[in-house]
Amino acid sequence: MELTDKIKKLKKEKNAVILAHNYQLPEIHDIADFVGDSLGLSMSAAKTDAEIIIFCGVHFMAETAKILSPQKTVLLPDKNAGCPMADMINADDLKSLQDAHPKAVTLCYVNTSAAVKAQCDYCCTSANALKMAQNILKNNEEIIFIPDKYLAQYVADQVGRKFITWEGYCPTHAKILPENIMQAKKLHPRAKVLVHPECKPQLTELADVVASTEKMCAYVQNAPDTEFIIATEIGIIYRMKKENPGKSFYPASDMATCPNMKRINLEKVLWSLEDLTYEITVPQDTMDKARLSIERMLQVT
Ligand code: 13P
Ligand code: SF4
Repeated sequence: MELTDKIKKLKKEKNAVILAHNYQLPEIHDIADFVGDSLGLSMSAAKTDAEIIIFCGVHFMAETAKILSPQKTVLLPDKNAGCPMADMINADDLKSLQDAHPKAVTLCYVNTSAAVKAQCDYCCTSANALKMAQNILKNNEEIIFIPDKYLAQYVADQVGRKFITWEGYCPTHAKILPENIMQAKKLHPRAKVLVHPECKPQLTELADVVASTEKMCAYVQNAPDTEFIIATEIGIIYRMKKENPGKSFYPASDMATCPNMKRINLEKVLWSLEDLTYEITVPQDTMDKARLSIERMLQVT
């Protein structure tokens, strides 16, 4: 039997659902029940009826699914699929920052560990970071935004404020340079430039659209344009081509690939279903505190 057939059969038998991030390999997109961005994946995890969630993404995403669906078994097919940006801050680091700024409200990017989320007031993803910041600023003066310094700067510029930030960043998005965009624009002068807000500010300045991965997918589908330069992890281009066969997509840089996202493959998904590996667990009190910051986000979104 083909690997994909085995996965489909076992998935049904075990009442499992496969959730996949937009940066996953094409074959993972093709077997997933839902493909999306961090926000869409959190929402799907919160509302699924399945008993088992196979999470094709990185550790913090599977942890977020577990926090939102604690009664379910959440499995990450490769236990080493982490996010270097999420690992750039821990709960002690955040505590020191909060002690230094006692009046500030903490807004944490979803790319953080459960322990860090447990210490935050609000969570956000790249899809709703601006909305979350605007909402917080209605009643508060100061925002601690962690860990992504580039996303923090992008949102701070949009709301015309200065945030208290952390030196975190995504190594994959940081590989994309302004000269890559300039070069791509020369080759494809009619193309619209889409940039993820995890990219450096010199890149967002060159963008026609700054958006999360899901909003990028919606934009390319709805826009009358037919050519697009994509400045984010290149895995998303498979989905864009599949959904828009008549349009052309050019990666801003072929270097923008996330090795952690690419750890998951069909064999590992099958083993995960067969052996129920690797189960994500979070201590109960951490989970309960972290859920508050995520639910506050879902209420605003
Ligand atoms: P989104 O898909 O939420 O835009 O996130 C991008 C990312 O880098 C996830 O790790
Ligand atoms: Fe983390 Fe960047 Fe990979 Fe997303 S693309 S998982 S932010 S390293």
